[in-house]
Amino acid sequence: MKKILITGASGYIGKCLFYFLKKKYEVIGIDKENDSEKKIYKCNVLNTKKLEKILFKAKPNLIVHLAAQSLVDETINKKKYYTNNVLATKSLITAMKKNNLNKIIFSSTAAVYQKNSKPLKENSKLKALSTYAKTKLICEKNIKKQKNINSVILRFFNVCSALDRPIIGELHNPETHLIPTISYKAMFNKKIYIYGNDFPTHDGTCIRDYIHIKDICSAIQKSAKYLLENKKSTILNVGNKKGLSNNQIVNFTKKNLKKKIDIKYVQRRKGDVAMLVCNSDKAKKIISWSAQNSNLKKILNDEMIWIKKFRRMGISRKFKNYL
Ligand SMILES: NC(=O)c1ccc[n+]([C@@H]2O[C@H](COP(=O)([O-])OP(=O)(O)OC[C@H]3O[C@@H](n4cnc5c(N)ncnc54)[C@H](O)[C@@H]3O)[C@@H](O)[C@H]2O)c1
Repeated sequence: MKKILITGASGYIGKCLFYFLKKKYEVIGIDKENDSEKKIYKCNVLNTKKLEKILFKAKPNLIVHLAAQSLVDETINKKKYYTNNVLATKSLITAMKKNNLNKIIFSSTAAVYQKNSKPLKENSKLKALSTYAKTKLICEKNIKKQKNINSVILRFFNVCSALDRPIIGELHNPETHLIPTISYKAMFNKKIYIYGNDFPTHDGTCIRDYIHIKDICSAIQKSAKYLLENKKSTILNVGNKKGLSNNQIVNFTKKNLKKKIDIKYVQRRKGDVAMLVCNSDKAKKIISWSAQNSNLKKILNDEMIWIKKFRRMGISRKFKNYL
């Protein structure tokens, strides 16, 4: 059985992926945070020496690199993004080279593209606006220039919702993503703040492409198969090919949950563009992947199942400031 190592395995995508891949691969993980799962080892990717030792012992056939400073918030110190994204990725590459490991899947983001009112293709113009996206673009370039390493760079659009078996999903602190915020706040009748209603879109609110975590996991699994069977590298978009505005999500959630939702529009966030919608035709062609679980009804239903689970465990979702 092939062995896959996931960095950032205690995070949202990492934890879901860990259980998803276990059906087909031997999976181990590392994360800088403690984890109750015994196959997820505590290690900061920046600690190259410790990482080298783990890779030497584990000898994974492939690495999925998810560890990052992933919260998009321009108030976070720029150095934190640079260290946790650029330097951590460099450290991982050094440790891989030392162990002659040559296959990596890297989690990048749709935020690397220049603003565009059309669905984005992998060769659409790039222009990272946020510090987060800038550091992801530097990592992409660094990975691509490695002569002896094959890579699949996946540009994720807005990842959301939860796996149903086992039930596991997103629990960031603070939570800033729209789907977990709206589902949770609607359930508890709390006010929802929407960033900006003056964007050049049909209803003035931002349009994004929401992709179910199960589809993300299957895209990573298919990328792993591609890398394990080929000595090639590629960049692929991973999204649902469908844009939804914030207002459309609010209205759908109201109907779906049969709840009144109290909305307040607040200032735009720096770095937010009006529209990010994916063209994933290349992923279909190269790895035979397309989104299968990303309709909004399934996204919200699976998210509600996850919320009910962590509430039963006495856990609450945390939001920033007035949010
Ligand atoms: N969630 C999304 O919508 C989305 C969209 C695009 C791209 N991505 C990318 O996918 C990846 C995973 O996202 P997520 O939502 O699961 O993020 P997350 O914040 O939930 O998880 C990241 C995990 O990485 C760990 N980590 C961070 N720095 C580390 C380090 N130096 N060493 C070891 N562990 C470290 C954290 O402890 C955390 O458990 C990130 O790289 C993110 O940028 C996510």
